[in-house]
Amino acid sequence: MIIITPSLVFCNSDEVRALLEFKKGIHEDPLGKVIPTWNATAVATASDLDSCPTSFHGVVCDDASNSVVAISLNGLNLSERIHDLWNLQHLNLSNNRFSGGYPTGIRNLQQLRVLDVHANELWGDIGVFFSELRNVEFVDLSMNKFSGGLPVDSSNVSSLGNTIRHMNLSSNLLGGKFLTADTLSLFQSLVVLDLGDNMIGGELPSFGSLYNLRVLRLRNNQLYGEVPGELLATLIQLKELDLSGNGFSGSIRGINSTTLEILDLSSNRLTGSFPEFSSQSGLTTLRISNNSLEGSLPSEWRQFAKLSKIDLSINNLAGRIPPALFSLNLRDLNLSKNHFNGAIPFPESTTVGLLGRLRSLNLAKNSLSGHIPNSLVNIDGLESLDLSSNQFKGHLPGKLPPNLKLLNVTYNDLSGTVPESLRSFPPSSFHPGNEKLYIPGDEGSPGGGSNYVSGKNGHRGSKSSIKIAIILASVGAALMIAFVALAYYRSQLHGSSKYNGATTGRDVKVRRFTRPSLFKFNAGPEPSDTSLSFSNTHLLTSNSRTLSGQAELVPDFVDRAAAASSTSYVKPNLPDNL
Ligand SMILES: *[C@@H]1O[C@H](CO)[C@@H](O)[C@H](O)[C@H]1NC(C)=O
Ligand SMILES: *[C@@H]1O[C@H](CO)[C@@H](O)[C@H](O)[C@H]1NC(C)=O
Ligand SMILES: *[C@@H]1O[C@H](CO)[C@@H](O)[C@H](O)[C@H]1NC(C)=O
Ligand SMILES: *[C@@H]1O[C@H](CO)[C@@H](O)[C@H](O)[C@H]1NC(C)=O
Ligand SMILES: *[C@@H]1O[C@H](CO)[C@@H](O)[C@H](O)[C@H]1NC(C)=O
Ligand SMILES: *[C@@H]1O[C@H](CO)[C@@H](O)[C@H](O)[C@H]1NC(C)=O
Ligand SMILES: *[C@@H]1O[C@H](CO)[C@@H](O)[C@H](O)[C@H]1NC(C)=O
Repeated sequence: MIIITPSLVFCNSDEVRALLEFKKGIHEDPLGKVIPTWNATAVATASDLDSCPTSFHGVVCDDASNSVVAISLNGLNLSERIHDLWNLQHLNLSNNRFSGGYPTGIRNLQQLRVLDVHANELWGDIGVFFSELRNVEFVDLSMNKFSGGLPVDSSNVSSLGNTIRHMNLSSNLLGGKFLTADTLSLFQSLVVLDLGDNMIGGELPSFGSLYNLRVLRLRNNQLYGEVPGELLATLIQLKELDLSGNGFSGSIRGINSTTLEILDLSSNRLTGSFPEFSSQSGLTTLRISNNSLEGSLPSEWRQFAKLSKIDLSINNLAGRIPPALFSLNLRDLNLSKNHFNGAIPFPESTTVGLLGRLRSLNLAKNSLSGHIPNSLVNIDGLESLDLSSNQFKGHLPGKLPPNLKLLNVTYNDLSGTVPESLRSFPPSSFHPGNEKLYIPGDEGSPGGGSNYVSGKNGHRGSKSSIKIAIILASVGAALMIAFVALAYYRSQLHGSSKYNGATTGRDVKVRRFTRPSLFKFNAGPEPSDTSLSFSNTHLLTSNSRTLSGQAELVPDFVDRAAAASSTSYVKPNLPDNL
């Protein structure tokens, strides 16, 4: 384990020596950028020891004061200990493997404005860390292992509160409750606050006095209670609000904000109807998926001229899909898993241009009916279309958009033959369900049937379904051999043009025989252990990463880590960008 020693305060002329001290603490320099260039003799010969060492990799010098103003060693995979350089204004140690307690000497960095140590393995109590920070404006501690609660006592943040504009503590192990109204009100300059992916609980206080706040991300915590109304009103000119993955409840009444661009309230416990919005909304992204919204959608969507992504999936919304939704310039529309009924309200004469930007349309798991509109083909950019688990009837459109990569119309009541132009999609795009829908075999490819089982859609096949497929295929093969033998025997009896006749007979008869039985197997209920085995693998990976990560940690931390959710604890090992 690496120990970070308390700070030493250096006067200006000692900076080179301080840097050389700092260098001694670097145990590993895999990219070989720091140890070779941080070289005292080079400095000594070039000038005197008092000058700022411009030749040191990552050291930024201020010409006027001839002193070190920044050390930028991000992405070098260094492991080291941090000392202080009292005049330092900008410290960027992001994307390394620094581990250990946070640098307690930070309080001596009176000039420090920017501290970016994101994506390391630093730990320590966030409350104490807060009281160490003085005049900092930008703090990014994200993707580390800081723990403890946010400061409860306003006296501990008073100096920081005046200066801090950007604070990112996301993906740590923070617990406790959210800041109290008193403490929060001290952060007058705050523009960006990101506390996402932690374990912070409690209710949110009023944000009414944080006039400068523009970005608030609190996703994946354990917050509950009502969403404070002022976050959605005009008082604060918020641009982005992400409260997803918490336990917020109650209903959202009005969203009067005209500045809000990104609103994500997904995976909470919100009830009531779809909120009313102000007559002029700046929203580009609206996600309220996985809540308990009910009632129907408004018919008027004209105020959402900028809206590009809508995700209202997994709610109890009902009624018709408002036609006005399709006159917006949307990219992604996800209304899956609701109770919408009626037809897809495309204007039948959709021209290219209208809906031109639509990239993904997911209306799965509703009660939609009618035909699948032919005008879909005009949505040039459409890449993903999921209409599965509805009550669509009739024939499939003859053509679908050229760029479509994902098609799912399973579990409907479609009939007829899959049109030629759609046969590049795997059979799993059409079946199960749609028992009256026929997929003609690939001409000249007798393996078409077996491809269906073993090949392209392997993710659907659990081990047991593969076993069943093998058994069915073997039975089919045995029957085929028997049939060929019989045909051969009969052709021998008849004595003329035997071989051609037998081949034709086999092609036709065998296809007719094997296909229905294979379909039957595929028409069975979806094996659910596919997703199970996936998440098991995932957990296994997380656990093993957690264990290897713990090697460098002190025992009391291990306990906290074990209590933490694996997702917030396991940080990806980011590749070096530099
Ligand atoms: C720190 O360095 C990383 C990688 O170069 C960069 O993405 C990040 O913006 C820097 N942080 C600050 C505050 O400049
Ligand atoms: C304030 O910070 C000090 C450390 O400087 C800490 O000992 C104390 O517990 C903090 N007080 C509160 C109420 O968080
Ligand atoms: C906070 O940090 C995380 C991880 O480094 C990053 O993904 C996120 O965009 C940052 N938040 C803000 C508001 O910049
Ligand atoms: C916000 O919108 C609601 C519903 O449209 C309206 O009743 C309320 O007066 C508005 N509040 C403000 C502060 O504009
Ligand atoms: C829906 O939200 C619950 C918590 O409210 C969460 O456990 C679940 O994973 C979410 N489901 C999806 C599909 O996001
Ligand atoms: C739509 O919502 C469902 C359910 O929340 C989700 O599984 C899916 O990934 C979302 N997006 C798209 C493009 O289908
Ligand atoms: C198609 O949708 C069904 C039901 O919504 C789902 O079970 C199946 O996994 C989906 N198939 C593909 C290939 O996306």
